Amino acid sequence: MTNALLVLGSANADLVVEVGRRPAGGETVLGGDTVVLPGGKGANTAVAAARVGASVALIGAVGGDGYGSLLRESLESSGVDTALVKTSERPTGIAYITVTPDGENSIVVSPGANADVSESDVDALSFDGASVLTCSLEVPLETVIHAIGAASKAGVRTVLNLSPVAELPTETLQQLTVLIVNEHEAAQLADDWRDLLELGPTSAIVTLGSRGAAVVAQAGIVEVPSIEVAEVVDTTGAGDAFAGALSARLTEGDDLVQAAKYAVKVAALSVTKAGAQPSYPTAAEVG
Ligand code: RIB
Repeated sequence: MTNALLVLGSANADLVVEVGRRPAGGETVLGGDTVVLPGGKGANTAVAAARVGASVALIGAVGGDGYGSLLRESLESSGVDTALVKTSERPTGIAYITVTPDGENSIVVSPGANADVSESDVDALSFDGASVLTCSLEVPLETVIHAIGAASKAGVRTVLNLSPVAELPTETLQQLTVLIVNEHEAAQLADDWRDLLELGPTSAIVTLGSRGAAVVAQAGIVEVPSIEVAEVVDTTGAGDAFAGALSARLTEGDDLVQAAKYAVKVAALSVTKAGAQPSYPTAAEVG
């Protein structure tokens, strides 16, 4: 293994429809035409990191179907190593996404092949040459727990985007170099952002949407403001863009605040275009 960054997580086909508003229970609303785009928190994170220049491999699974090909094509054309993306008997994961005029999204995920990402996939990989492992939680929790343990024992820094939110063993939290949560997740986990460190991670980042992010370390909290963007088109995958860009910069030797400053820019630029992976900027576009 020669990739500095390993990403463990999901790969989904995003079926996106624009709606004026979301339907209430038992209600039907008409939306726009369905657009199919490559997504999934793991694949998004890997693509965001690769676009800004990281050497990155995704550990994941897709089905042997057209959506699987769409995902492989997006990953590979962005420069992500897909040698560790297996083809499962199950269909490629699908995310059903509605986007409202303010750019906000809501998502239902059908995991499909992502449910097949297993502890043995982690055991099969080598951490040689890797400096960061970044995980998110649309693949089985036991696989993520196993990977974080293995990476930590191998001396590889570990980043976890706690999305979607789940309960983790204390030992796993203690093996984390960086815990990434949004404001709502942070509020569920601790009364005060400083208290996130008492859960076990060496550091934490609270993402604040259009306001940027807060880096929480033993030395204190540093708020990193976002950049202004002209128009918010679609926020889908902005958190994954942040996690990918942050991880990429960590492999390049940035400290956490420097990496977060870069990552808020990447996340902000990502909301100016539709979709997740298609919206991620290159290093040249970030400037
Ligand atoms: O974080 C955004 C992603 O969540 C989407 O691309 C969708 O696939 C879901 O996994």
